[in-house]
Amino acid sequence: MKKLKFPKGFQWGVATSSYQVEGGNSNSDWWQWEKLGKADNESGRACDYWNLYKKDHELLSELGVKMFRTSIEWARVENEDGVFDEEAFAHYREILGDLKKRSIKTQVTLWWWTSPIWFQEKYGFHKKESIEIFARYVKKVTDELGDLIDIFTILNEPMVPLGQGFLAGAFPPGYKNPFKFLSAINNISKAYKKSYESIHEKYPNKQVGITYLYNWYESEGFGILLNTINRIAQWYRIDLLGNKIKGYQDYVGINYYRLGKIKFNLKDFRMDSRNQTYLGFTIEEDLGNVMKWISYPQGMLKVLKEASDKFKLPIYITENGGPTREGLDDGDRIRFIKSHLAMVHKAISEGVDVRGYNFWSLMDNLEWLYGYEPKFGLIEMDYKTLERKPRKSFYEYAKICKSNELEIK
Ligand code: BGC
Repeated sequence: MKKLKFPKGFQWGVATSSYQVEGGNSNSDWWQWEKLGKADNESGRACDYWNLYKKDHELLSELGVKMFRTSIEWARVENEDGVFDEEAFAHYREILGDLKKRSIKTQVTLWWWTSPIWFQEKYGFHKKESIEIFARYVKKVTDELGDLIDIFTILNEPMVPLGQGFLAGAFPPGYKNPFKFLSAINNISKAYKKSYESIHEKYPNKQVGITYLYNWYESEGFGILLNTINRIAQWYRIDLLGNKIKGYQDYVGINYYRLGKIKFNLKDFRMDSRNQTYLGFTIEEDLGNVMKWISYPQGMLKVLKEASDKFKLPIYITENGGPTREGLDDGDRIRFIKSHLAMVHKAISEGVDVRGYNFWSLMDNLEWLYGYEPKFGLIEMDYKTLERKPRKSFYEYAKICKSNELEIK
């Protein structure tokens, strides 16, 4: 047995997002999308975190985490254009206040893919007005809740919903339009910068930033074409937006999940983002995995080193996890956690400034288009009774959070 010690004050955490756990978000565009039959399940009451948050926070305390990553549902707090819901803000104050009482730091995301239906119908990020509208929302959240927020994350992985929503048509608003896509990237980065400034006006010392979906991509073989595609893919996923907001991030949030091994197959000349097929380019699949994802712990080390060189900023691993079909005895998840954390430890020992790690997720929840089938949680969710049952991985992760060290063979 070897014990790997983490730096003093390392921020052990877990993450969830509002739409995926709260339930009842009927003013959000994703709700409408589900009603059109575009996703495998309707979110419905989800985990009912909105009402049962105290139960979940009790479990956070039992887990011994220092940080909880959560988000604010825009459509709940601004249910009409410019009309804010004071009750919803009061409820979020209770939720965040309960975390503070437990000495759990809050890492709060302000836009996690979903927008109010009115925003999508009247504006949308492809329209210029969206900059002011979004910044107004952020300012209001900062005024109402900012004192209870330790780390602000303005946007979660914006390239995912922008690509899926404006190019692939798989997420709301369902466009397949490269011009709208480019305008949306421009506008969202301006909205981001404006929001960054307004949060800092009020809270100069709080950390403000963004998360990137930062998987590790490799191409099969080293053909010039594949290497070029790989480089373009990297530029698309990280640099296209990252370059526009340079200087406006106090930290970088990394969401690392898996290996994407790019292959070229001329016979499969389809555009099917759900099956990761882009005009002949596909991504290798692990057919044994519920979402066909390839787990690749070494990728964590590669990503951390690359992101550290690229951004030269403190890093938070804002999400890391993997989907399974397991029940309470979740050996795969335990192996996943340990093997990835060993790589985080290695990165730190090689000089990468990693400040914290959030496991995705505290509990099973709505996995967007894939609905409720993939299980990501340390806690199993019985969607019929809403009973929460900690899995074996919950207790293993608790040991790590409490001891600040990882035991490996
Ligand atoms: C997203 C989460 C999602 C998770 C697993 C992340 O990219 O931020 O919302 O559930 O991946 O797919």
